[in-house]
Amino acid sequence: MNDATDRTRYSALLHAAGTHYVDVLDQRLLPHRVQTQRIASADDAAIAIRDMAVRGAPLIGAVGAYGLALALDTDTSDAALSSAHAMLDATRPTAVNLRWALDRVHARVVSLAPKERAHAAWAEADAIFAEDVSINEAIGRHGLSLLRDIAREHERTVNVMTHCNAGALATCGLGTATAPIFLAHDEGMPLHVWVSETRPRLQGANLTAWEMAQRDIAHTLIVDGASGLLMRRGDVDLVIVGADRVAANGDVCNKIGTYDKALAAADNGVPFYVALPSPTIDWSAPSGDAIPIETRPSTEVLEVRGRTSSGDADGVAIAGDGTRALNYAFDVTPQRLVSGYLTERGLARDAAALRRLFPERAPR
Ligand code: MRU
Repeated sequence: MNDATDRTRYSALLHAAGTHYVDVLDQRLLPHRVQTQRIASADDAAIAIRDMAVRGAPLIGAVGAYGLALALDTDTSDAALSSAHAMLDATRPTAVNLRWALDRVHARVVSLAPKERAHAAWAEADAIFAEDVSINEAIGRHGLSLLRDIAREHERTVNVMTHCNAGALATCGLGTATAPIFLAHDEGMPLHVWVSETRPRLQGANLTAWEMAQRDIAHTLIVDGASGLLMRRGDVDLVIVGADRVAANGDVCNKIGTYDKALAAADNGVPFYVALPSPTIDWSAPSGDAIPIETRPSTEVLEVRGRTSSGDADGVAIAGDGTRALNYAFDVTPQRLVSGYLTERGLARDAAALRRLFPERAPR
């Protein structure tokens, strides 16, 4: 472990060429402490994903891929390959990027001689990492043109709303929903971001607000329930959210509370965009009903974690003893509420357009 306090340089995941470990930021400690954690075994990778030291669909895919490479460093047998694949795959059920990345590394190595497997797995994991960086940049460029159109039309600060964290912390690069925001800010566009706190784990308050502050982007933290009022008042020009899995019909599974924002956006004529890297599309899921929704411990709802006046992180109970709580981590936004999908190949307005952008992957 080491302390990475330089506020201008951080990365959610780092793999230095030739090393047999990866370093990740422990996101459970942010924004109060910036600390990296070394992942040096498949077990380390599985624990980091399960306990949410790393989170966000593309990032858990990449960490899963490195986890499989780490497993093959110690045992290159077929049995070790399948058991590591199963262990990593079981960590979190909803984001399809995890299964996609594990399957991709598995497919790359399974027909190789055992002595060639570990090297090939590391190379494949590095390729997944590099591709995610490029995908983020491409999504950013396509989203930037949307933001430019709005800026030209209104000639004032552009107000973007986002939910949860689909930022650099959730990926290997610039983030998905945040990439257009970062590029627009870099070119000097006047921008303001509404960051919804994202109960119960507060990825908006803890992570997205931190990312905006790191880059000196104007932002305001709001409670999740404030989105509708802000849209009704005309204070939101567009919403951009990430996704954990998008079904073939365009239904979007993302952090709990996304659906409410999409409903409020539709009711108020606010465009609602989904930043969508292609590995997040599950072409085998006909609709959102086929997507498994992760249920997390009720303690996350019954407590709020934060920094106490003594400077230490702690949780406090927010409900009376014996209160029951339910903690679905994701929800499904129906395709009809989505104005467009920002992919690395451009903007798709609906599921048919998405299929046309990815003809080699979409089922016929
Ligand atoms: O539970 P989390 O923090 O992993 O959920 C993350 C999200 O819902 C993100 O919006 C999604 O993974 C997209 S990240 C580019």
